[in-house]
This record gives sequence, C-alpha cells and structure tokens, in this order.
Amino acid sequence: MNKIVIKGGKPLRGEVYIEGAKNAVLPIVTSALLATEGVSKFYNVPNLSDVKIISELLTSLGVKINYNKEEKTLEVDATNPLKKEADFEFVSKMRASFLVAAPILVREKFAKVAMPGGCAIGSRPIEQHLKGFSLLGANIIKDAGYVELKAEKGLTGTTIFFDFPSVGATQNVIMASCLSKGKTILVNVAQEPEIGDMISFLKKMGAKISGENTSCLVIEGVEKLHGAEHTIMPDRVEAATYMIAAAATKGNVLVKNARYEDNVALVSKMREMGVQIEVNKNEIRVKNDRDYLLPIDVKTLPHPGFLTDMQSIIMVLTLLAKGVSTITETVFENRFMHVEELRRMNAKIRIEGRSALIEGGEKLEGTSVKATDLRAGAALVIAGLIANGQTVVTNIKHIDRGYVNIEEKLRK
Ligand code: UD1
Repeated sequence: MNKIVIKGGKPLRGEVYIEGAKNAVLPIVTSALLATEGVSKFYNVPNLSDVKIISELLTSLGVKINYNKEEKTLEVDATNPLKKEADFEFVSKMRASFLVAAPILVREKFAKVAMPGGCAIGSRPIEQHLKGFSLLGANIIKDAGYVELKAEKGLTGTTIFFDFPSVGATQNVIMASCLSKGKTILVNVAQEPEIGDMISFLKKMGAKISGENTSCLVIEGVEKLHGAEHTIMPDRVEAATYMIAAAATKGNVLVKNARYEDNVALVSKMREMGVQIEVNKNEIRVKNDRDYLLPIDVKTLPHPGFLTDMQSIIMVLTLLAKGVSTITETVFENRFMHVEELRRMNAKIRIEGRSALIEGGEKLEGTSVKATDLRAGAALVIAGLIANGQTVVTNIKHIDRGYVNIEEKLRK
C-alpha cells in the first residue's frame, strides 16, 4: 500500500485499541543488548516498520531476535559478543538506531556507529549523547560520518548535566551508566513516560536506578545485567491521534488501552477547546457535538509539556475552532511541513517564526497531499476525515513507521 484514500464526512463511532508505544519499544529492545545472560521477552510489541528496522539492526550486530506477530511478542538473545559497528544503512533509516552506541560501548569497550544525519523535522544533533559518553570516560573520534567510541578500561560514573533534556541522549547515557563503575548522577534528564518504561525494564534486568519521572537520576553501576520480561506501555501518540480524530469528526469513540496520566497536556487542551472527555482506568472516551470548538494556544515542550509529536495532529483540530489559535514549536526547528499540505486543503494557516497562526472555521477540501513525516502523515489523514470529497494521502511509508493498521481501525 502506498497511499490512503479517504472519503470523509462521517463521525467516528465505536472503540479503538491502542498498541504498544513505538517510542518505548525502540529504546527498550535496544537496552536488552546490555544483557550478557538470559533472554529478554517483550509483550505488546506493535507490528511497525520501525520495529522491523531495529530488529534488523540488532540481528546485524549478532543478536538473535524472534518476533511473533500474532502474539505481539519479541524475544532478544544478546548473549553472544556484539559486532562493534552499526552501519549507516540502519542509522539513516531510523535515528533511534543511534541508541545502540551505549550497549556496544559498555560491552565491547569500542563502538563505531554512523552519525545520524538531519531529517525532515530538523537537524537533530547528538552532542548531548557524546558529552555523556565522554564524561563517563569514553574517547570519541568523529571520522567520515561515523563516531568511534573507545573505553578500554570501561566507563566510570560521574555527574552529567544535560543542556537540554534530550530523550535520546538521556536513554543512551542511562544505558551506559548502568554498566559504569560507581555512581552516576544525571541532571536535567528527559522525563517522557517512555523513559520511565525503559527504566522499569532496566531495573528488572538488575540495574540500580532511582529518581525516575524526575529531572535527576541516580544510577549505581553494576557488573552485569540479565535478560528480563516486560510489557510495553501503550502508545500515547497513537491514542492522541484517535482522540483527535474522534473530536474532529464530531464522533464518540472509546479509546482503549490509553492512559490519562501520559496524556494530561493533550486532554487539558482538548477540554479547553470544548471537547468532552471521560477518563477511566486505561481508557478514554472522546465525544464532540459542537459545531465550533474554541481556539487555543499550544507550545510544544519537553515532558510534562505538550508533546511535539502531537503538534501537527492538534493543528487539525484547531481548524475547527472559531477564531485564531497559535501553535508554537520549541523542540524541533522544522516541524511545520504539514502546514503547506493543509493549506492545499484550504486551511488558513500562517507561519511566523516558530509559531503557526491558525484561523479556524474554513471547510477543508479533499485533494492529494503528501506525508512528509510520520506525525504530519497522521495529521493529513485526520484532515481527510473532515474534508469535503476525497483526500489521497501519499508517501505513507512514514505513517507505517508508527501506526498499526490505521486505515482498518478508522474504517471500523
Ligand atoms: C524522541 C522521539 C521523538 C520525539 C522527541 C522529542 C523516539 C524514538 N523519538 O526523539 O518522537 O519527537 O523525542 O520528544 O523516542 N538535540 C540536541 N542535541 C542532542 C540531542 C537532541 O540539540 O544531542 C535537540 C534535537 O535537535 C531536537 C531536540 O533536542 O531539537 C529534541 O531531541 P530529542 O529529545 O533528542 O529527540 P529524539 O530522542 O531524537
């Protein structure tokens, strides 16, 4: 499938089940590389192309991987020595591949990993990852698009302050600290719930970590880690996508396996717009019967602020508000690629610096639009659901990175 054709105009009704979180499964499966004994087993693993890419990367490093699509389980046996080099082929396909740097380095004392380039949403540098490795004692050489990390005598714990709470840098440095000598204190870490999920898995492997869900982590290094079992947390961005799709189409949808505590910012903003939201244990019901919603101001920020991955999606909802909404993107510098496509559908949006000014109330018109990245693609699908006529979303390989059967779930 290379396009999604949408004939919108119908309110969404019914139930939708949310899969395991893409942004949790990638770092968690990678952290299973730290286990020199035993096999790790994961439950609730979504059948996504990004999971396939990380599995292929791990296999290329000499790890045994077994994914059962029906049962949504994935087994990782990393007990053999790891290959020390991660190719550009994998890192260029998916930036999260750079997370293999820490496990290869701490286990093999040397790692050569391709530097991730820029991508559609911004330049995405890695200097915070490298600063962490360097302060733990690694010698770093950048050469011909690769980073070589050396730590012949292993790493030693210290205090590391992150200039920005980068999700990936926090994950990479947590993994390295778990097998460093002595105590590491990480200050100004990212606090995304997916990091909490990763820490919970690392603790099951034998890691000694305290301070989870705060901005400061204390990690006591251990000699070795072992395989463990873990159920991946629900995907809060997939949940957000169906919640917004329900509200935008004036529908009534029960989003199952969705946790309010992971989506407080989104629920607050949707309620501010006038959407009715009922929160129960592990499920969220979204109803909307208003002809017009209220405008809002949104600023993306590190957790617990409004998640940048939901920015394009909530923008579609603001198109239904009477008045001007503003959305300010502070996390990535180039995350408004969907705006051009939404404009082609008749949306009135103006970009000023890092903010988008959205004048709601104009009816969208279906046309052909292109998904420029994963969440931009999801936004265009929702736009198609509320547009007049037919919308064709192309380039949907991006959507398959993060959504299992989106067309089937929406059809139902
Ligand atoms: C992760 C998520 C992504 C989400 C992002 C922010 C995964 C697989 N991906 O990406 O969906 O949008 O968090 O919540 O979990 N930065 C630096 N230097 C660094 C590292 C990052 O300047 O060393 C900057 C980046 O350029 C970007 C910002 O920090 O502008 C956020 O990046 P980061 O938090 O690292 O995001 P990722 O881990 O790449």
